[in-house]
Amino acid sequence: MIELRVNGETHQLDIDPQMPLLWALREHVGLTGTKYGCGIGQCGACTVHLGGAAVRSCSVPVSAAADQDITTIEGLADGPRGAVGSAVQQAWQDLDVVQCGFCQSGQIMQATALLATDPAPDDAAIDTNMTGNICRCATYARIRRAIHKAAQALG
Ligand code: FES
Repeated sequence: MIELRVNGETHQLDIDPQMPLLWALREHVGLTGTKYGCGIGQCGACTVHLGGAAVRSCSVPVSAAADQDITTIEGLADGPRGAVGSAVQQAWQDLDVVQCGFCQSGQIMQATALLATDPAPDDAAIDTNMTGNICRCATYARIRRAIHKAAQALG
């Protein structure tokens, strides 16, 4: 049995310890806001927070996530990074960032982790930190503006 702490709730799961966290979240915990894009750590669609840091959940075995706080997009606003996450989500809404939306939960999780460690990133810092989150609709300019807006809102 693997015990996962997801969005403040504990789940006892009878699963292979090597199962990717993404599969466990989607198929066993029932949280489908975290998306499967590439499955090899290259696109960022599956980004969640593990102990407050952004990780690619497709590339983390559940055994490595046990005993740590896992936050997904569903629990972001109420989680340890809630204030930052809420500001990011509000900025995303205000600036209408989303096009098809598939990558956006990963983008928001990555952006929140960035602002939690760098409250006022410049364009270069944003681009460096967001470069691993691919958006096939190319919403990058709006993502960058939304991160600046969230940073301003947070003061
Ligand atoms: Fe995990 Fe692409 S699905 S990085």
